[in-house]
Amino acid sequence: MDGRDLVRSVRVVGSGRGALGLRTVRAAWRRRRIDAAGLPRRGAERARVPGQVESVEPGPGGGVIRFSRSELRITVTVNGAVFWGWDGSGPQPSYALTGGCPEPDPRAVLEPDKDGGWRVVAERVTVVVSRHGAVEVCTPGGVTLRRDLPPRWWEPVDGGTARWMQRSEVAADARFFGLGGRASGPRLRDGTYRLWNTDPGRAFAPDDDPLYLTMPVQLVVADAGTHLLFHDTTWDGTVVLREGEEGAGSGHDQVGRCEVRMDGGPLRCWVMVGTPARVLQTWASLTGAPALPPAWALGHHHARWGFGSEQEVRRIVAGYQERDLPLDAVHLDIDHYDDHQVFTVDRERFPKLPVLAEELRRSGVRLVSIVDPAVKAAPGNSVYDGGAAVDAFVRDASGRTVLGVVWAGESVYPDFTHARVRSWWGGLYEERLGQGFSGFWHDMNEPTSFHAFGEPTLPRSARHALEGRGGDHREAHNVYALCMARAAYEGLRELAPQERPFLFTRSGWAGVQRYGGTWSGDVATGWPGLRASLSLVLGLGLCGVPYSGPDVGGFDGSPSPELYLRWFQLGSYLPLFRTHASLRAGRREPWEFGPEVLEHARVALLERRRLLPYFVTLAHLARRTGAPYVRPLWWGAPEDRSLRDCEDTFLLGDGLLVAPVLEPGADRRAVRLPRGRWYDTVTEQAYEGPGQVLVDAPLSRIPVLARAGAVVPVRRADGGLELEVWAPARGRTGGGLVVPDAGDGWDEPEIERYVVRRQGRQVVVTREGEDGASEPSCPVRVRGLG
Ligand code: GLC
Repeated sequence: MDGRDLVRSVRVVGSGRGALGLRTVRAAWRRRRIDAAGLPRRGAERARVPGQVESVEPGPGGGVIRFSRSELRITVTVNGAVFWGWDGSGPQPSYALTGGCPEPDPRAVLEPDKDGGWRVVAERVTVVVSRHGAVEVCTPGGVTLRRDLPPRWWEPVDGGTARWMQRSEVAADARFFGLGGRASGPRLRDGTYRLWNTDPGRAFAPDDDPLYLTMPVQLVVADAGTHLLFHDTTWDGTVVLREGEEGAGSGHDQVGRCEVRMDGGPLRCWVMVGTPARVLQTWASLTGAPALPPAWALGHHHARWGFGSEQEVRRIVAGYQERDLPLDAVHLDIDHYDDHQVFTVDRERFPKLPVLAEELRRSGVRLVSIVDPAVKAAPGNSVYDGGAAVDAFVRDASGRTVLGVVWAGESVYPDFTHARVRSWWGGLYEERLGQGFSGFWHDMNEPTSFHAFGEPTLPRSARHALEGRGGDHREAHNVYALCMARAAYEGLRELAPQERPFLFTRSGWAGVQRYGGTWSGDVATGWPGLRASLSLVLGLGLCGVPYSGPDVGGFDGSPSPELYLRWFQLGSYLPLFRTHASLRAGRREPWEFGPEVLEHARVALLERRRLLPYFVTLAHLARRTGAPYVRPLWWGAPEDRSLRDCEDTFLLGDGLLVAPVLEPGADRRAVRLPRGRWYDTVTEQAYEGPGQVLVDAPLSRIPVLARAGAVVPVRRADGGLELEVWAPARGRTGGGLVVPDAGDGWDEPEIERYVVRRQGRQVVVTREGEDGASEPSCPVRVRGLG
């Protein structure tokens, strides 16, 4: 046991997981033994670089460039994305891509470049390859966005998986974002970021890395343009980032640098260039449209580990109802299981769950169930027996079923990389639907096994089907949760075909948005945790996962009333708005923090309910365009460097700008504004951007500004729809899209497009359609005219 292991084992004991005591020690030793026997030993390695260009072979969308010791395949596809793969690797097989690989763009041509290099010229991008194998991505105007130096491989002399490393340079002004859910962002500063989904084993703070949901997706924003780069490799790796500095000095370079090292897997990349909106749209077309949550999932959720009984659930729901506080969903954690076993119910404490679910549903509250992947290894437990009967559980290299330790004790893990296992698992949600659950919360799926020391996951040598290709946990680990989400999503589509599945998952990988959203995991209670909450949502949105949110109030301990309220206010503008906390944490109900907090929390809840049609619109637009609901300030103006560095403010769709309070004791805050006129949505005071203004932020509210010309669909007190239209500045126009809710099924609502014009002191709103302009479909309220 080394020092780090000791720290971890102390953490495990300190986190309450220590109740599992000696079993976590045994599991850690077992894991070590399995890997000692099952993992290939790292012997002597040979380093390799591509060498010199020898020949080329043009093909559709680009072609193949042969070097003396490798070959590079480049394809520009019709959606404008560029693929390149070394050593003959193509885009498939891939866990990220959906619906196969897009067609090559027949207009892209491979032609000779200077100094013996080659280039592929396409409409939106030019890729220049040097004769030594450096790959440069340039705008059509010839400005370099990224230069990847020739890669390097280390191959075991006696065969096996090669490690590789790729260094890249970007402009000095470039900023890095993404890499999945990172607590220290959203701007990823100089440092090392690991690509290995990890349960930190306790409530995490901004400097904890990695967390539950990593992915090799970088979004890079620079004066010359925005690009998204995806290394399609599921193996463990690290990304070292170093921002550049113009004029250099202070130890910094004139260029920004990025170094990616992977323990294995193909060296292949996708890159997309354009505006942020275009880049995210291309990314969604490649990896799948984000699943559309039902409208109720865009309301307020209340969760807790440890409700403990039906009576307590009723008490909480009544607490909301008696105080007229909107509530849309209640989540049951592992304490409602029988002895912590997935797909079971503790019948003593929850004797009539379907009745409770029905009662709640009638009052507009849905029940959501936690689902953990690990199955208690107990013959007689029907999930265990059923899984064993279809040979569902992960085995080690010698063929023995791998045992880990989770809440229920010694447990086995379904191999979700096998279609047969996914289909068995998907069928298990029938029991959940029968209990009356409407949504699913996937947890512990990094996957996690409590170990007193070493990595808290399965042995790296554990075997996985990997869709029939066969491989081990080194390759399957990062996509374990993605495949679990797929199993649930596909199962639910069969079990309840008339409803859209609602699920969100703690871990995941590129493409997980196809099946659902995610949440922060166990964010530590404290002001740094509040900041981390926003970083996670923004970063994940830029990786194509638009639906997420934090545990409002933080997972552990007890927030001060002020911290709770500021978290609640931020949460009310994020896609998943959920209060949740750990077993031993303090209360999280809005009425537990005194009358003042209750009143302000009520305002936040009512405003969220009022904005529900706007959230529904943003959910539809995310699905159709890949644009996240929550966007960094630079979304529409990536060339504005001051916006790129602003991390405490965000855009909610095109219309609103939200400036949460992330510090104690504030009653006003500086707000950076993109270009244009912005109205404080409470006082209607107008501010002119670009620039920075000081805005009141009393305890009762966080500043929310509306863009002049915005059309925001809102819910009136009587439940009807209304368009809130913010006056354009004189001489300007505005507009927006509205997508009405079409229920929880699969009906496709028609997108309504509005145009806003200013005529003198009047504001005129028209709906534009194929047959010309018409009246808006609902009442309009113009604001901001003073
Ligand atoms: C994990 C989850 C947390 C949940 C707990 C018990 O820590 O992240 O949300 O409450 O497990 O299931």
